[in-house]
Amino acid sequence: MPKQLYIETVGCQMNMLDSELVVASLRKAGYVVVDTPAQADTILFNTCSVRQHAEDKIYSALGRLKHAKKHNPDKIIGVLGCMAQKDQKLIFERAPFVDLIVGPGQLHQIPDLIEKIHAGEGRQMEVSLDRKAGSRELVEQSFESYDPLRDPQMRPTPFQAFVRIMIGCDKFCTYCIVPSVRGPEQSRPAAHILAEARQLADEGCREITLLGQTVNSYQHTADGQTTRLSDLLAELHEIEGLARLKFVTNYPKDMTDDLLWAVRDLPKVSPYLHVPAQSGSNRMLGRMKRGYTVEEYREMLVRIRETIPGSAVTSDFIVGFCGETEEDFHETVELVRESRFKNSFIFKYSERPGTKSFQLYPDDVPEEVKRRRNNELLAVQNAISEEDNLPLLGQTVEVLVEGPSKVAQRNDDGASNLQLVGRTHCDRIVVFDGNRRQVGQLLDVAIYDVDDFTLFGSVVTQHVGPEVYSL
Ligand code: 5AD
Ligand code: SF4
Repeated sequence: MPKQLYIETVGCQMNMLDSELVVASLRKAGYVVVDTPAQADTILFNTCSVRQHAEDKIYSALGRLKHAKKHNPDKIIGVLGCMAQKDQKLIFERAPFVDLIVGPGQLHQIPDLIEKIHAGEGRQMEVSLDRKAGSRELVEQSFESYDPLRDPQMRPTPFQAFVRIMIGCDKFCTYCIVPSVRGPEQSRPAAHILAEARQLADEGCREITLLGQTVNSYQHTADGQTTRLSDLLAELHEIEGLARLKFVTNYPKDMTDDLLWAVRDLPKVSPYLHVPAQSGSNRMLGRMKRGYTVEEYREMLVRIRETIPGSAVTSDFIVGFCGETEEDFHETVELVRESRFKNSFIFKYSERPGTKSFQLYPDDVPEEVKRRRNNELLAVQNAISEEDNLPLLGQTVEVLVEGPSKVAQRNDDGASNLQLVGRTHCDRIVVFDGNRRQVGQLLDVAIYDVDDFTLFGSVVTQHVGPEVYSL
């Protein structure tokens, strides 16, 4: 009888990749994945600590399992990822029925830790060192990058893959918990990344998205030779079979010209850059310790648009950061209005114990003001997104087909014709009718409708074979 695994993942792409790799390692150990916690004998939560809300969701999901654990004490319940690193033993205190706590730097140990619990060794906790607990070298060693050999059968979509190129972050923006829970910035050796990408391409992968908290700060030196992200992209570009290369998330100050030239000159690299601005007010950027002024951010945008005309830029913003006045907020609105991002992710500031802003500044913008600013900024961005999608009406775009759309997934009756979803080279989402066999292909799609978020189109059928004329 195979063991049944249920896993829930919240947070960023890094967490999605971590969960994929944890699932793969447990499948190798004889687990099958099930759809509900009720069916499972092992329940894992891969967690996020960036905002309070993400943590609350996990604690309430854990609360709902209290009874299940009482009725079935052999069920294993585990908390993985950023919350495990941040709260550590506190999780055992708040949810005493949890068996397993594993930080993002110890994920490779999960199969062994579960074995120990089964063997009666009691609950298990493995986390990395606190950033101040020892020398940089020691702390770095305690955060182990989790990049085992990929197993093609175990990827959610065989045609797309995330590849980690660095872990951790050294920027210490004052609002952000990531540098504490994901540890010091460490770039992976280029040779490892290239080997992983080659293997993925051999298995039929068409698109690779390189991941790093500040992906464009990537730098690795081996045998006296330094590889930057631009160099890495040039090498990845040579790999046969790969059609698209993307990378997230960029840090504005590290958006160097060599990287922009690489995006311009390498056709497989998507002309799409996610470069969070966070605020349009210099006072807020200073308090956030982002390390740039709004003028410098604007200058960077000009450079991007001059170097890569037609590229899509996206951003993140935090509204209601400590001390944000209406005037500060309007400066952010102004930046969004003039920058014409493809889209922006907007977040209400969430105070995180353990960060500098938690220590230094009161969280003094009322919740309803944060909510209003969030909605206002989103409305400005959405109007721009729709306006900028309009010129695509009637155009033909090249789409990498990702799979059935959400609607088709809900009503899946196994038919080969169904609604598909894919993305353009600039990361725009396209929905169209197609055939299951087209998943993983690059297709031309003619656009007949757009909204702020999605393009709707139909596949351009190509005429193949000789023309036959009646005489
Ligand atoms: N509160 C709200 N948003 C935050 N982010 C990071 N930390 C916080 C916080 N404490 C946002 C930033 C970042 C995105 C991933 O999450 O905008 O770019
Ligand atoms: Fe957090 Fe700033 Fe690092 Fe991004 S760059 S992960 S916001 S500390």
